[in-house]
Amino acid sequence: MRILLVLFLLALPFPLGQQVNAKEATLTISFGAGAKVYRAADLLARTDAADVTIKHDIAYKRPMIYRAVPLLDLLGDLDKVPFDTLEAQATDGFVSQIPLALVSKARDGGAVPWIAIETAKKPWPDMPGRSFSPGPFFMIWQHAERSGVGPEQWPYALAQLSGVQSPFKRWPQLAVAASLPADAPERRGAKGFIKNCLSCHRLNGAGEGDMGPDLDKPMNATEYMTPVGLRRLIRDPASVRTWPNQVMQGFDKSVIPDNELDDLIAYLKYIARK
Ligand code: HEC
Repeated sequence: MRILLVLFLLALPFPLGQQVNAKEATLTISFGAGAKVYRAADLLARTDAADVTIKHDIAYKRPMIYRAVPLLDLLGDLDKVPFDTLEAQATDGFVSQIPLALVSKARDGGAVPWIAIETAKKPWPDMPGRSFSPGPFFMIWQHAERSGVGPEQWPYALAQLSGVQSPFKRWPQLAVAASLPADAPERRGAKGFIKNCLSCHRLNGAGEGDMGPDLDKPMNATEYMTPVGLRRLIRDPASVRTWPNQVMQGFDKSVIPDNELDDLIAYLKYIARK
């Protein structure tokens, strides 16, 4: 029976994949009432699709023009939802937790998020140093500097956007003690970690990212790396060690200034003590 089936499949005039289009990439948006699944063609057919110019593109490190749809239109009413964070899941294990407050700044002159769409007809070039493009769905920001959007808040190879609770509510182990002063470095460092690192690294099991190792478990990175080595690795991983499949990119002072790097390391040490 199985042999017959194989023979039948071989006899088909074209691969099954083409017939049913089973492999076509989709973007799922689960924000409030039910999940909606979009194909690239669905998004491109929308009347709000537009050409968007990005002056400082994170993926290509140069100006880019994308065909894109405004994220605010796709999400709908931001004020009536019972969550405060947009979780952006990529197909490669990268999961960014983006505050809705950052998204909604677009309504008051802040950075404007769009979903850029790559198509087979108009493929995007490979990213510098990579053998793939950021498509088929890429969350981009117009005027990113207006709201201080960080590079880890531009998820590419996007598969799903979901409304969720903030990381501190979902993973209490990320929080610092209420007794710490409001301006404690550890408190600031926690925010910096969520913005810049949590998308790839879990911390004491917290988070959804799967690209890099948990930075607290089984041992905290501050306990087996020297202070100098850890700082250098965050600034420029390749200045510490290199290999062909290295993934992590460095964070220069324009993304994490020296004082914020101090805060971040203070936070990692605090989590190690906890
Ligand atoms: C895009 C994903 C990504 C982001 C964002 C990221 N990292 Fe990494 N990181 C990795 C990966 C993957 C590794 C494993 C080595 C590699 O492939 O580069 C790693 C390795 C490390 C290591 C070495 C761990 C070990 O035991 O070898 C440390 C420490 C580290 N990252 C800290 C950070 C900090 C702190 C941040 C935020 C400022 C950060 N990373 C942001 C992906 C990321």
